[in-house]
Amino acid sequence: MITVPVMSTKGGVGKSTTAANLGAFCADAGKRVLLIDLDAQPTLSSYYRLEYEAPGGIYEFVGANETRPESIISKTSIHNLDIIISNDSKGQLDTLLLNAADGRLRLVNLLPTLQPHYDLILIDTKGSRCIALEIPAERRSLIVPFTLAVTALIRRLCRLVASLTVFSPEGTLFLF
Ligand SMILES: Nc1ncnc2c1ncn2[C@@H]1O[C@H](COP(=O)(O)OP(=O)(O)O)[C@@H](O)[C@H]1O
Ligand SMILES: [Mg+2]
Repeated sequence: MITVPVMSTKGGVGKSTTAANLGAFCADAGKRVLLIDLDAQPTLSSYYRLEYEAPGGIYEFVGANETRPESIISKTSIHNLDIIISNDSKGQLDTLLLNAADGRLRLVNLLPTLQPHYDLILIDTKGSRCIALEIPAERRSLIVPFTLAVTALIRRLCRLVASLTVFSPEGTLFLF
C-alpha cells in the first residue's frame, strides 16, 4: 500500500488531472485505488461519474472522524477506483483543523483505517499553503506536477550551468 499526495503551491499545474488519470490508470491495471480530494474546489470530485455517491465526503472524514466506508467513500464508474469527494464548499475544514488539538495529524491518523482496502491512495490538494497541504506532506512519496514553462526553465538552467563549468577549473560551482 502506498499513499501519495499530489501537491504544488501553484494552481493550474495539473494536480487534479494527474491524480485522476494516474488513479484510473492504476485501477485499470488491477490496483485498488482511492482518490482523496482535499481541494475545496472539487475538480477531482467531478472528474468521473459516480456509480455510488456516499452521503459524506472529506468534511465528514477529516472534520468529523467518520471512517465507515459506506458513509464517506463514493464509487466511480471505473472498477477499482473509489473517491472521497470534496464537500467542504464553504472552506471550513482548514479552520476546523487549526482549532483542533490533533488537527495537523488528523489525516495521518485516519488513513490507516482505509489503507488495508487499497493498493494506492492518491491525495489531491489545493495550490496554496494551508493546513490541509501540511498534512499530506507527512507522507514520504510526493508527486509535484509542473508546467512546460518550468521544464524549459530547468533545461535552460542546466545548459547554463554546464556551460559555466568551463570557467570553473575546480569543477565546483556555487549558485546563489
Ligand atoms: N499534461 C497536461 N497537458 C495539457 N493540459 C493539462 C495537463 N494537465 C492538466 N492540464 C489542463 O490544465 C488545466 C489545469 O489542470 P488541473 O489538473 O485542474 O490543475 P490543478 O489541479 O493543479 O489546479 C486543466 O484545464 C487541465 O485540463
Ligand atoms: Mg486541482
